[in-house]
Amino acid sequence: MVISEKTVAMGKQSVKDIAATDLNAKRVLVRVDFNVPMEAGVITDDVRIRAALPTIRYLIEKNSIVILCSHFGRPKGQVKDEFRLQPIAKRLQELLGQPVSMLEDCIGQDVETAVHAAKPKSVLLLENLRFYKEEEDNNEVFARKLAALADVYVNDAFGTAHRAHASTEGVAHFLPAYAGLLIEKELAFLGQAIHQPQRPFVCIIGGAKVSTKMSVLKNLLGKVDTLIIGGGMAYTFFKAQGLQIGKSLCEDNFIEAANLFLNLAKSSKTKVMFPVDCVVADAFDQDAHTRLVTIDQIPSDWQALDCGPETIALIKAEIAGARTVLWNGPLGVFEMDRFATGTNEVAKALAHSQAVTIVGGGDSAAAIEKAGLVDKITHVSTGGGASLEFLEGQELPGIAVLKDKTPTPV
Ligand code: 3PG
Repeated sequence: MVISEKTVAMGKQSVKDIAATDLNAKRVLVRVDFNVPMEAGVITDDVRIRAALPTIRYLIEKNSIVILCSHFGRPKGQVKDEFRLQPIAKRLQELLGQPVSMLEDCIGQDVETAVHAAKPKSVLLLENLRFYKEEEDNNEVFARKLAALADVYVNDAFGTAHRAHASTEGVAHFLPAYAGLLIEKELAFLGQAIHQPQRPFVCIIGGAKVSTKMSVLKNLLGKVDTLIIGGGMAYTFFKAQGLQIGKSLCEDNFIEAANLFLNLAKSSKTKVMFPVDCVVADAFDQDAHTRLVTIDQIPSDWQALDCGPETIALIKAEIAGARTVLWNGPLGVFEMDRFATGTNEVAKALAHSQAVTIVGGGDSAAAIEKAGLVDKITHVSTGGGASLEFLEGQELPGIAVLKDKTPTPV
């Protein structure tokens, strides 16, 4: 189901809450997440750049001077040419249809001169914040230097909101700090799903590693009506239950945690489901020999790389009966076409569903993108790690620090 973000609410003030006079001819520092996939200087997916456009356009319309800042990759405090933002500035310029001034640094005299000379409605992009170690250290002096460039701060980098860095957290202590329209939208959809879902609420959590998702699973127990655990991480739970899983993925140091979770699940009102059949292969290879087996029949030298048709049918039945579905993590090794069936079938079922459908970032978002189904999903998150931490119930530092909405008097 495609619904408007206006139908859902959030607790932080956004750019739309800023008085027009506080934006008119004012310098606005906007933290965006332009950490896009790039191969040999060519952007292979510009979703995150497009996702920042509504905020940028809104500020241009309000006659602001828009100063964008972002990290790109992990240059670890060093200036490295392959991490320069120039290709991103070029793409942004094409998408915006107006010039974007690419600056050679993110702080310092030249940057100050450029931002002070900039005219209203102009857009500037600062160089990669992570060329300074101080960014990830959330260094106060560095944060103050960023703050000194502007009159107002807007955070629209949902993908980086789980990082307490100088440009996502520190700077917000020194300027009036608001959420951008992307963050507003992400919080609205993810927050509504977790806190006020239309029920039945079905959550499908997949992916390779249970270690990265255990806290999410625990947080969802009791909140969702059905929790489907799939992908490689399901096999740690099967081993915990004494099943033979052959060479399937398993995190042995999480077996105890898996057992604890299964015990917790017994006393919870959430129905927890696992795959009942799987596609096993004799090697981790697109050309491996494969077989379809039930979960209790995995041969000792084989490994499960996708879920089977019975499992897919069970998941589809849950989706068909749901009014909200949240999906995070693939159901098999979807990077190899032969083991992408489970993931693709879930993507299609979500696309055809009448429910509110939300896809967490990372691999499941990539699967939806690859299948060309983005427009059929209510909300596809731009945050991988950030959406996971949100689902864990954690406060995201880049959001916690923003201005709260004033409570409506009763
Ligand atoms: C991401 O791509 O998940 C964000 O941009 C955060 O990047 P990081 O994991 O390097 O902090």
